[in-house]
Amino acid sequence: MADAPQPNAHGQSSGHIPKAHRPRHALVTGGAGFIGSHLVEHLLAQGTQVTVIDNLSTGRIENLKPILDSIRFIEADVDQGLASLGHESRFDEIYHLAAAVGVDLVLDDPITSIKTNIHQTDAVFEYALANGSPPTLIASSSEVYGKPNTGVFSEEDDLLFGATTITRWSYAHAKAIDEHLALAYWRQHKLPAIICRFFNTVGPRQVGRYGMVLPRFVESALKNETLKVFGDGTQSRCFCDGRDVIEVLVRMVRSPSCAGRVFNIGSDHPITIMELAQTVIETLESSSAIELIPYCDAYPAGFEDLRHRKPNLDRIKETVGFEPQYTLTQTITDLANELSGVEPAPSKGGA
Ligand SMILES: NC(=O)c1ccc[n+]([C@@H]2O[C@H](COP(=O)([O-])OP(=O)(O)OC[C@H]3O[C@@H](n4cnc5c(N)ncnc54)[C@H](O)[C@@H]3O)[C@@H](O)[C@H]2O)c1
Repeated sequence: MADAPQPNAHGQSSGHIPKAHRPRHALVTGGAGFIGSHLVEHLLAQGTQVTVIDNLSTGRIENLKPILDSIRFIEADVDQGLASLGHESRFDEIYHLAAAVGVDLVLDDPITSIKTNIHQTDAVFEYALANGSPPTLIASSSEVYGKPNTGVFSEEDDLLFGATTITRWSYAHAKAIDEHLALAYWRQHKLPAIICRFFNTVGPRQVGRYGMVLPRFVESALKNETLKVFGDGTQSRCFCDGRDVIEVLVRMVRSPSCAGRVFNIGSDHPITIMELAQTVIETLESSSAIELIPYCDAYPAGFEDLRHRKPNLDRIKETVGFEPQYTLTQTITDLANELSGVEPAPSKGGA
């Protein structure tokens, strides 16, 4: 929250710019990442000042290159970056997107992933509480639903996790703990915490090296290499363009009715992973083949995948409105153009 104007000895303003006339100031953790960098661009375009904390573990400074001179960028782990801010930087809103993301990363280094995804979220809430309790949005994940067979997931549904001996569930558990923390800060301290459960979010700037399926397929299709579909390919997901998501994040943070609540966010149009591979090949006019890789060859023993994942979007639509604009083929084309060095089309959200 911005500093309040200080009256001087004559009861007049001391020269501080009144809050109403100052630009809003947002803190974005993970702002050099895929979703974060689109959000930072969008906030800047709206006239919001932005401070980014990112350790560049999976994010890239190139994502912020055109706007680097217009933001404050702190290359650090979230907790260290927050400690370096001191109390002189007050924020009107916080977006906590930093996390260890991607199946491969979580399987390769579960200790760091678990610590990052729990400890850094706690650090954000501690900081927010000590600094005026601005609205604080955290990125959760559709992974927290676990593996029920209900098909469509609603925010108040029970969660059904796999055993702790299966490493992939550590990401879901950590994100669920983050949600508990957020709701506890809201209940105990009235800190306006907002929880976004992202379903598969895709688009330019997303990278494939940590197991993200769409950039992996697009990279292979551009090289006319075989697209590797894990499992039998009949599992389905709903893919939403990150550029459609960012604008609604800002609306949520600025809507008091969102405080202390959980929201699904994403597309509700399912597509099987086999159909996704075919769509990528057709869209990019690639000569790639498709190969099915059994889970036992793709992942460590005991890996469990989820058959179908589709969000119920009633809550977000009713509360702040949400109408994605990008088609999947547009997203694939823009991602391919970016990977080929072609500038992506301007965001439809105005960023
Ligand atoms: N993309 C999706 O489909 C999806 C789905 C569900 C949830 N999410 C969540 O959305 C958020 C953003 O994901 P993304 O897809 O943009 O991934 P991303 O990897 O591009 O972004 C994460 C960013 O966090 C940074 N980071 C990681 N650990 C950090 C630390 N300790 N300190 C500071 N910075 C750190 C990374 O460098 C990166 O820039 C994450 O919290 C993720 O869990 C994304």
